[in-house]
Parts: sequence; structure tokens; C-alpha cells
Amino acid sequence: MIELKKITEENFIDAFNLSLAPGQGKFVSHPIRSLAQAYVYRDQCQPFGICLDGQMVGYVMVIYDYDIPEYDIWHMMIDKKYQGRGYGREALRLVLDYIATKPFGDSDKIALTCNRDNSAALKLYESMGFSATGQEYDDEIELVIDNAKIPGSTRA
Ligand SMILES: CC(C)(COP(=O)(O)OP(=O)(O)OC[C@H]1O[C@@H](n2cnc3c(N)ncnc32)[C@H](O)[C@@H]1OP(=O)(O)O)[C@@H](O)C(=O)NCCC(=O)NCCS
Repeated sequence: MIELKKITEENFIDAFNLSLAPGQGKFVSHPIRSLAQAYVYRDQCQPFGICLDGQMVGYVMVIYDYDIPEYDIWHMMIDKKYQGRGYGREALRLVLDYIATKPFGDSDKIALTCNRDNSAALKLYESMGFSATGQEYDDEIELVIDNAKIPGSTRA
């Protein structure tokens, strides 16, 4: 079973030990760098380990942008040994459920950016209902979803 577990002093080394496949480093920050950013944004973010039966197999961070306001999903990754088994999709569903609890503020807007060459991640996000806004930042495409309008959702 896939669960999101908050990063704590008990499990942060497991996050440090996650690894990407060759060539994927250009698509996402490693959890070590992401957790450094989480310290800077500590009043508006929550980093998670993605755990399979208690073992950390991935990482993702949720951060709230008070200015817009919107929730952003940063640095989602599944360890190279566990990719392609459905865990990324399951984790993303759990992230959307977490955001639906509005832990930092009252917005249904969720945004993320994805490298234009990252076809696996783009397929995942689009199949979950995210759509491109047309906004681009260097090689990154912005995608958004309205959490209250997810098909089949009881959140509306
Ligand atoms: C992107 C990532 C998080 C997806 O997690 P995952 O567990 O490997 O993905 P899943 O097995 O849940 O697959 C979900 C969907 O992603 C797409 N996908 C996953 N791997 C794919 C691949 N190798 N090629 C094409 N599409 C792929 C498919 O649409 C898939 O759905 P389907 O199996 O029903 O066709 C993971 O591959 C990863 O960590 N990649 C490196 C880091 C990264 O790019 N992070 C995203 C930053 S924006």
C-alpha cells in the first residue's frame, strides 16, 4: 500500500538515499536539495516520503503560494527501482487528497511545472486531469488542475 509520510528526523535519511535513473536529474531536484528549500519555505510547505508498505520509494513536496493563492506540487519522484509500477499515480492521488484538506489556505487551484521533454511525467499529469496553461519557464511547462472539479470527486 502506498502512503504519504511526513518527512521527520526518523526518515529524512531514507529520502536522501532515493535515486533517479540516468538522465532524470535534469527533470527534478533531488530530495536533498528539495529539503533544503523546504527549510526556507517551512511555514508554507510539507515534504513527504512516498512509502510502500512502510518503505520509502519516492518523495514529493506540497507548497502553498499565498500570493496567488494556489497549491504547488514540487519535486515528485519515484526511486528508479520502483518506477513504472503505478506508485507515482497512486502517490499523486494522495497528494490531491491532502491538498483537498486545505492545510495552508483556501484554494482549489493546484499547479506544477514539468520539463517539456519529460514525456512520462506529462502523460501522468495529463491523465490525472492536469492541463497546460500555456505559461512556460525556460524548459518547464506549467500545468494546473482545479481540485474541486476532478471527475468523480466528492470535493465540489
Ligand atoms: C514521473 C514519475 C514520478 C512517475 O511515477 P511512476 O511510478 O514511474 O509512474 P506510474 O507507474 O504510476 O505511471 C503513471 C503514468 O505515467 C506514465 N508513464 C510512467 N512511466 C512511463 C514511461 N516510461 N513512458 C511513458 N509514460 C510513462 C504513464 O501514463 C503511466 O500511466 P499508465 O501506466 O496507465 O500508462 C517517475 O517516473 C519519476 O520519478 N520520474 C523521474 C522524476 C520526474 O521526472 N519527476 C517528475 C517531475 S515534474
